[in-house]
Amino acid sequence: MPKVKFTPQNKVAEVESGTNLLKAADRAGLYIEGDCAGRGTCGKCRVKITEGDRVEPTTAEKKHLSPGDLEAGWVLACQRVLDRDITIEVPIQKDAHLRKTTLAGGVEELTAEPLVEKTAVKLSRPAVKDQTADLERLLGRLERPELNIELRELAHLPTLLRDNAYAVTAAIAGDRIISIEPGDTTDQMYGVAFDIGTTTIMGSLLDLKTASVIAVAATTNPQNAYGADVISRITHASESRENLKQLQEKVIEAANKIIKDLLRQTKVARDRVYEVTAVGNTTMSHLFMGVDPTFLAPAPFVPAYSRPLEVEASELGLKVNPAGRVTFLPNIAGYVGSDTVGVIIAADMDQRKDNCAAIDIGTNGELVLAANGRLMACSTAAGPAFEGAQIKHGMRAAAGAIESVDYKEGEIKLGTIDNLPACGICGSGLIDAAAALLDAGLIEPSGRFVNPEENPEKVPDRFKNRLRRGEGGYEFVLVTAEDSDIDSDIVLSQGDVRELQLAKGAIYAGLMILLKEAEIEIDDLDQVLLAGAFGNYVRKESALTIGLLPQLPPEKIVAVGNAAGDGSRMALASKTIRERAGNLPHRVEHLELSTRPDFQDIFIEAMAFQKI
Ligand code: FES
Repeated sequence: MPKVKFTPQNKVAEVESGTNLLKAADRAGLYIEGDCAGRGTCGKCRVKITEGDRVEPTTAEKKHLSPGDLEAGWVLACQRVLDRDITIEVPIQKDAHLRKTTLAGGVEELTAEPLVEKTAVKLSRPAVKDQTADLERLLGRLERPELNIELRELAHLPTLLRDNAYAVTAAIAGDRIISIEPGDTTDQMYGVAFDIGTTTIMGSLLDLKTASVIAVAATTNPQNAYGADVISRITHASESRENLKQLQEKVIEAANKIIKDLLRQTKVARDRVYEVTAVGNTTMSHLFMGVDPTFLAPAPFVPAYSRPLEVEASELGLKVNPAGRVTFLPNIAGYVGSDTVGVIIAADMDQRKDNCAAIDIGTNGELVLAANGRLMACSTAAGPAFEGAQIKHGMRAAAGAIESVDYKEGEIKLGTIDNLPACGICGSGLIDAAAALLDAGLIEPSGRFVNPEENPEKVPDRFKNRLRRGEGGYEFVLVTAEDSDIDSDIVLSQGDVRELQLAKGAIYAGLMILLKEAEIEIDDLDQVLLAGAFGNYVRKESALTIGLLPQLPPEKIVAVGNAAGDGSRMALASKTIRERAGNLPHRVEHLELSTRPDFQDIFIEAMAFQKI
């Protein structure tokens, strides 16, 4: 079997002949960036062969890699099939989740209302005159004779009682004792709230006695190896039960990695974590629970369930207290998941009286409108471009990503995350770049780059070398190869601008349909909330310039950070909020945009770059 060595990670995988490098890396526990699940269309899975024979590049490699790159040994991992030993260099994945992690918080003012209660008791010792069984003695002291107990806890009860002078603490969830602990542990009650994103998974450890966040951690969703979008993952899962299991194992593995990190940071014992909540889009919910998501993909996009699902941690293999309660908040529809439920809860949209819209841009775009006492939601296939997918040099919001582009005093100025040399462009940079080039007059309102041959007067001298003919139209060089971290020019292509137009047109049109349904106008909106990490970083001015958002006074547009994650934390902190979330599928009216004939018209109009 051929062996592949990955540097600088220094990992080795031995795989069957015919396995591609993407799969071999997955086998070695490494994640190679890629958005197209190995179809050879995204060009993102670049790795460099440092030892081993070169072979003729594939069509996909010729398309995505320059002759210089090919000469230097760069290949696409999904295109390279192994038949002999090889050593490759994998670009270090920058910390894509860093910005999201910093958004934790937001539940400090909640009243703690945990599902699990703990009671410390001191039992009387048995005697010849009092031969009451250990369990009945405990239940009698708790004054809860109706309680059941986990068999695994009962198994050690006799010794536990005698070893601890009959002083123990019972952790009770509903009508069940889920844990019996030595001594008084009533001050130790913890829970983990997850936000299971298609790209990034975040977890927060909460002290359930105070409803405060005591640690946060995040990791990349390892299901990325099976495609950046939910459709690729649904397709993979629907091919076989093993594939579904594989995707579930990946996400549970990542959740356990986060739990381990949270416990390491706080020195909290695993068994003292009794509750877990999670939010995510409907596909993530199905894959986390190991439920077949096949019928989410074709119309009519039917999920297997919409209610909140509650299971024991041991059923999923989550490394908290094995009897801990895990609740995935409810879905609203096939493409409006519990992450939207989290946003509604966090922004109080189910209780507020004014007219408020929330836009959550992740891998998908989800929109909610609270107006005239109604709650409505829809989703648009808008997100991937904002996460860098389908953008020539697109990348997630990680170190080195171009995150801001300004057009000032005739110059284009760029800012990168952590001020590192640029290695790509993330969502906020993409919107800024389009807005800056619109301001500079280099992009027309139709979205077309100005043709410098037909209209040389429209292109200032300083940009003459930067606006050049590229694949499928003109492209603008944002960073030249000498200044970039990827040894090639970083450009905004005509294709990128088109992708942005499709994405922003879909979001705008979705919002318009919601307003139409509620019979209100843009001016009737009291607030527009931008949820998601992306919402925090996108510049309102640029979003308004390109027409991603309706023309409202900027003070009405408010970034609310990772509201979906906040909703998960709030539901963890309070069982009342969890119940409130559980009722939302009955309250929220879901609008299916694909069946609306008016959507297409608004969408086409909204694709143009103009203030609307
Ligand atoms: S080109 Fe290889 S994963 Fe997309």
